[in-house]
Amino acid sequence: MANNNEIERRRTFAIIAHPDAGKTSLTEKLLLFGGQIQVAGAVKSNKIKKTATSDWMDIEKQRGISVTTSVMEFDYHDYKVNILDTPGHQDFAEDTYRTLTAVDSVIIVVDGAKGVETQTRKLMEVCRMRNTPVIIFINKMDREAKDPFDLLDELEEELHIHVRPLTWPIESGVRFKGVYNIYEHNLNLYQPSKQVVTEKVEVDIHTEELDNQIGAQLADKLRGELELIDGVYPEFDKEEYLKGELAPVFFGSALNNFGVQELLDCFVEIAPSPRPVKAEEREVEPEEPKFTGFIFKITANIDPNHRSCIAFCKICSGKFVRNAPYLHVRHGKTMRFSSPTQFMAQRKTTVDEAWAGDIIGLPDNGTFKIGDTLTEGEALHFKGLPSFSPEMFKYIENADPMKQKQLAKGIDQLMDEGVAQLFVNQFNGRKIIGTVGQLQFEVIQYRLENEYSAKCRWEPLSLYKACWIESDDAAELEAFKNTSLPSRSFAMYWYLRFLKA
Ligand code: G4P
Repeated sequence: MANNNEIERRRTFAIIAHPDAGKTSLTEKLLLFGGQIQVAGAVKSNKIKKTATSDWMDIEKQRGISVTTSVMEFDYHDYKVNILDTPGHQDFAEDTYRTLTAVDSVIIVVDGAKGVETQTRKLMEVCRMRNTPVIIFINKMDREAKDPFDLLDELEEELHIHVRPLTWPIESGVRFKGVYNIYEHNLNLYQPSKQVVTEKVEVDIHTEELDNQIGAQLADKLRGELELIDGVYPEFDKEEYLKGELAPVFFGSALNNFGVQELLDCFVEIAPSPRPVKAEEREVEPEEPKFTGFIFKITANIDPNHRSCIAFCKICSGKFVRNAPYLHVRHGKTMRFSSPTQFMAQRKTTVDEAWAGDIIGLPDNGTFKIGDTLTEGEALHFKGLPSFSPEMFKYIENADPMKQKQLAKGIDQLMDEGVAQLFVNQFNGRKIIGTVGQLQFEVIQYRLENEYSAKCRWEPLSLYKACWIESDDAAELEAFKNTSLPSRSFAMYWYLRFLKA
């Protein structure tokens, strides 16, 4: 039987946010508490920023956006925390969605001045679909922010989830005094410092001590607001949180390392340990003794010195052991992995064993596809890995006749990684790449050049959607295929003529 303690102490989650809300800053502070980095608040230093994010690819560095997903792990008190970093840029939303299938909970970062933004809304939809438990961190309270009650209303309305504040801000911007921890009944007074974690003051809000700390006027206001919170919001109910129906809310400033420890302390306590995962055949419990896992991401060239790909495997049950024989279900073959890795930004170490909840990296030379399952022999197929309907299409053409083979190989491998989708025009055999964003075309071109020495060029194509059309009536489907253009919409005409490669 698997060691339950090992599994129970694991907390695997992702931080999601609209770009610029403060995901990198918060990740950095969590790594600081986890002892993985030593310098606090140096998010402005590119060095730290690069360690704290997944800036593995040059293109990512050039653009200052986080394109790929990385995994960071650390121990905090008795817990093992696995953070899955996600690309912030919306053109890589698909990557983020897949990552969300590998986590047991999420922390959403919201900019206190901007409130709920597009990406937050979209990502929350994915969490809702999967009933993923959500904690919300309202960031940048050291800047002028929206009224906290308005923010809570906005969260409820826009994200369709009940909320319950667990800390409460005392003003914002230049008047920001700190946060009151509603559950621990203590006051965390704000000092704008990136290096020092501020001292907390135990304070009974009904005494003069509160007036002494923050002034009579603000003390009265805080008392009134806390009364209102108790009146309006029901007590925090952990079960509702675990069902994904209620989100506890924290306020703070990631940049100033303020309010982050409260968040982390509460997170490790309430966030779920690895949850059961649905396979087509049955639900797999994390405590099952036998190892099972699935590939949710494949990425190339993490280490520019070694050109192989890494397949990221989420362990769903049991214990993974290095060099043990595991069944690659799609291939029906037994495989052994001699150098599985775990990650800490750019550093990776070989692991001898890993447990349900952990993410391990398996060296991959084209063996894996997104969604592949590994087991100790059972033919399981994990489901729910989203594949998205592309919204932008371009013909991909070979720009270097001497490199035809390299181009074909590059395209195949990038498609296996799930970077984009490949279609073939049935009339002329030309290859079409479908993506969800413009930036993906640039990444593909860049990677084809840098990793496969192949050159491509794009030709425009005015399609906006691809989908499968099915019918129980084969004759009707055939008739539809042969329908002349004017009687169907142009787009529909094209759908049928693309055979997904
Ligand atoms: P992201 O990963 O979600 O895109 O956000 P990131 O942490 O990179 O933060 C985006 C910008 O917001 C950064 O400023 C960062 O310093 C700032 N920021 C993050 N948290 C806070 C906060 O609590 N208070 C304030 N005042 N600012 C915060 P930048 O100027 O874009 O970059 P940089 O030059 O600081 O690196």
